[in-house]
Amino acid sequence: MNENIFPHVPAVTFTERMKVCGLEPSVLWFTGLSGSGKTTLAREVERRIINAGCPAYLLDGDSTRTGLCAGLGFSENDRAENLRRLAEASVILAGSGATAIVSAISPLSSSRKAARETISKKCPFYEVYVSTPVEECRRRDVKGLYAKADAGLISDFTGVSAPYEAPEAPDITIDTTGRDIHECADEIMYMLFGRGYLSVMEKAALLAGNEIMRVYRSDLRVEHKDDSSPVTEADMNADRVISGILKERFPYIPVLSEESADDRSRLYSRCCFIVDPLDGTEEYIARNGEFTVNIAFCCDGRIIMGVIYIPSTGEMFEAASGAGAYKRMFDGETLSASQRIRTSRRTEGLILMESRSHNKNVEYLKLIERGRNRIGQIQRCGSSIKGCRIAEGKADVYYRFGLTHEWDTAAMQCICEQAGAIFLDGNGNQIRYNRIDTLNRDGFYILNLPENQF
Ligand code: ADX
Repeated sequence: MNENIFPHVPAVTFTERMKVCGLEPSVLWFTGLSGSGKTTLAREVERRIINAGCPAYLLDGDSTRTGLCAGLGFSENDRAENLRRLAEASVILAGSGATAIVSAISPLSSSRKAARETISKKCPFYEVYVSTPVEECRRRDVKGLYAKADAGLISDFTGVSAPYEAPEAPDITIDTTGRDIHECADEIMYMLFGRGYLSVMEKAALLAGNEIMRVYRSDLRVEHKDDSSPVTEADMNADRVISGILKERFPYIPVLSEESADDRSRLYSRCCFIVDPLDGTEEYIARNGEFTVNIAFCCDGRIIMGVIYIPSTGEMFEAASGAGAYKRMFDGETLSASQRIRTSRRTEGLILMESRSHNKNVEYLKLIERGRNRIGQIQRCGSSIKGCRIAEGKADVYYRFGLTHEWDTAAMQCICEQAGAIFLDGNGNQIRYNRIDTLNRDGFYILNLPENQF
């Protein structure tokens, strides 16, 4: 380095920056042949991250070649320089707190390796291999470049007269042949969230679940809180486990938890975790297995990630904004692969979920009377499991009158919405989270389809 150059230490620390961002910054690097669908996918992913309230910026090869990388051609050296600049620029973007997205053919392993080395010193690097085969890219030939390359009008054209070395260990591989772009984007979003926050939230839920089951198998001691609701050693221990893990990994994000004193700094933070370490304490005490661990991530008042774990069955439900909802099973040692879950399309013979422990008032009974012809079955069940069953299409409708707290609904909100459900307060409005008053005063309802409102 030139001895007269003095790189400075950033004035704004990472922690300060993370308080105003949502996702942890990273670089998503799309590689694949011309016409494989890289840019279409990268644009969709960029929009979804922005929709989740987090900063993102796409550096697309075709565009950057008119500015940042103007003057560079398609020789091996020029391509290497092109990708070196994109790697450096993406590090700057990620340093500003954004998810930087790069879409460039990046045909050689050596350039991708160099990019990974530069970037992973600063933030996570995810390689997205858009593996659409050359025959399909040729068939599409959106820009007419394959025809030109075949006619000898373009030299060094990747896949025709220049090589493409497929990645050996990409973070995700997507062949867009015959596939819906939205489904492909879901997979990439799920990978992105899954490698960061969701994996930590999952781990916290599993460890809390272990603790809950340990106490479950022993003699339960039940105490009562000021509002006379029951609390057990399991609630408190699970809370400690979850807060410990979240605070260790994300010290700059406040935690709102049912079992901890309210950390009011959350009100001045864009993001916070919302946790119910043990939802369904009554069911827990009744030992019927219907209790859950709930962890949600809130950004700008909206829940953008949610995890619900049912310790008694090992079912893990999870979702993230723009990624869809998923189910996995925990067998005591490992989590199974994720299965996409979706709400049912039923409009008759509906399965109505009902609370086990909450009384039905007159208003509720009138409502159910209105829907009587369409209800085929009523299932009673405790805790946020009701939302999970609707999310996975095993039930359809749930109306909840009376009070709940933000932590009762937060994770369920994201899982249900990402599975395709409607989840609104009793007045039909969106529920905002991370409020001063954490009570949901207007009730709420979950519908598999909008037309199933009674
Ligand atoms: S890279 O190889 O250096 O990563 P980059 O993604 O920036 O390439 O640019 C590729 C784009 O340039 C293609 O989408 C295509 O529109 C255009 N292009 C022009 N000439 C070539 C060529 N010889 N090979 C590949 N792409 C080309």
